[in-house]
Amino acid sequence: MAESWRNPLRDKRDKRMPRIAGPCSVVIFGVTGDLARKKLMPAIYDLANRGLLPPSFALVGFARREWADEDFSKVVYDAVKQHARTPFRQEVWDRLAEGFRFVQGTFDDAASYDRLSETLDKLDAERGTGGNHAFYLSIPPNAFPVVCEQLQKSGLARQTDGWSRVVIEKPFGHDLASARELNAVVNSVFPEESVFRIDHYLGKETVQNILALRFANELFEPVWNSHYVDHVQITMAEDLGLGGRAGYYDGIGAARDVIQNHLIQLLALTAMEEPVNFSPHELQVEKLKVLSATRPLQPLDQTTARGQYAAGWQGSEKVPGLLEEEGFAHDSVTETFAAITLEVDTRRWAGVPFFLRTGKRLARRVTEVALVFRRAPHLPFDSTMTEELGKNALVLRIQPDEGITMRFGSKVPGSAMEVRDVNMDFSYGSAFAEDSPEAYERLILDVLLGEPSLFPVNAEVELSWEILDPVLENWAAHGQPEPYKSGTWGPASANEMVHHLGREWRRP
Ligand code: BG6
Repeated sequence: MAESWRNPLRDKRDKRMPRIAGPCSVVIFGVTGDLARKKLMPAIYDLANRGLLPPSFALVGFARREWADEDFSKVVYDAVKQHARTPFRQEVWDRLAEGFRFVQGTFDDAASYDRLSETLDKLDAERGTGGNHAFYLSIPPNAFPVVCEQLQKSGLARQTDGWSRVVIEKPFGHDLASARELNAVVNSVFPEESVFRIDHYLGKETVQNILALRFANELFEPVWNSHYVDHVQITMAEDLGLGGRAGYYDGIGAARDVIQNHLIQLLALTAMEEPVNFSPHELQVEKLKVLSATRPLQPLDQTTARGQYAAGWQGSEKVPGLLEEEGFAHDSVTETFAAITLEVDTRRWAGVPFFLRTGKRLARRVTEVALVFRRAPHLPFDSTMTEELGKNALVLRIQPDEGITMRFGSKVPGSAMEVRDVNMDFSYGSAFAEDSPEAYERLILDVLLGEPSLFPVNAEVELSWEILDPVLENWAAHGQPEPYKSGTWGPASANEMVHHLGREWRRP
């Protein structure tokens, strides 16, 4: 655990005083990529705009292009103008842009790292970045080893005269064996406490609120177990297709892209026991415990489903199927929809299925965690009066309409005792005046502060692969995924998967 770490949830001073990063720089590898433009650069500007970066802050781009500092600055400017969350303020921009540098280089060329090292030394001396540098690898994972190795050889990974941290983006491998290899390479250069693995879902306010909801209240925890919960549904649906993303996505697929990380993390926060406190260590202990008790329910042919979107309609737009999208092989077996059933083998959750599903080109964009409760053991009403009564549900709406819904039966006004489901809603938008920061703002700030709570550790990543590997192996033996029409809720086998256990998917 970093020495400077203070527990923000327990320390009242933090509530009143914003957490401001100390002197440092961020070096982005892969600065010409989509993530850097759409998320990282805007997040850095937004942090500066909120006064959370020190005056000495520097941003260094590293890429192959023949750019001068000014060209890089222009790229950041355009990214900020297009994607920043907070308003543009010239004085903030001018101060931030003074700290922009660009280093031309390739990942495997030692001389490029010498130039990077000189640039960082100069920034330490001239701007006072204090020898503290975060290396953000927004690059394909097969380039991680060579970059880590070069950072080590050039002395940039050393932890003396300041800190040196590495930030890595998923995919962390494509199965357990490759994740282990990758972790071994990264950990041979950076100690685990200097490695920050980004799962941007953990940076979302609504995801952090799962812990607040569960452990700050007395109302929910008593029913948060198999005595009351019938099953749990974790859904991350997207309406977008994969046009333009073949390079990353083909051969990876929905399960590796989303279930291995975002959805299994949501499961861990939903199913874990209460941590002794909110220190990074205690949080990890509980997450690791619950993940090590989690496994796919057998038989996999009935408890999982995978699909691939075919042409269809997204609203009023006619959209192509995956196999017609540019860059995808005409016989690609990459799944764009994945659903799995997990069991959590603990006293709290024995017998409660956790259904996880994700897909592209589905009916709408929505992410939610829904706890669906058992039926009341006895209904003292005329059965014709409860035909429209479903199961109670507590729905944590992660996005886009952030909030929580409680669904329960209520009397329909009138002379008969008719009961029907109604919703009770909490919405972030109307309860709080503050806008939620973007996930990347929170996560980048945490890297600079050395706060590891919201970053999965090596062991979590490996446990997630251990859960998913048997499913992926099973699918690999089955050829083409089942096609589903764009704009629907996925393949028929996804419905069969829940019907097989006597359940229904919610229509979020
Ligand atoms: C990323 C996946 O991690 O999350 C993408 O690689 C996906 O495929 C994205 O589109 C969704 O993020 P969000 O925050 O928009 O739900």
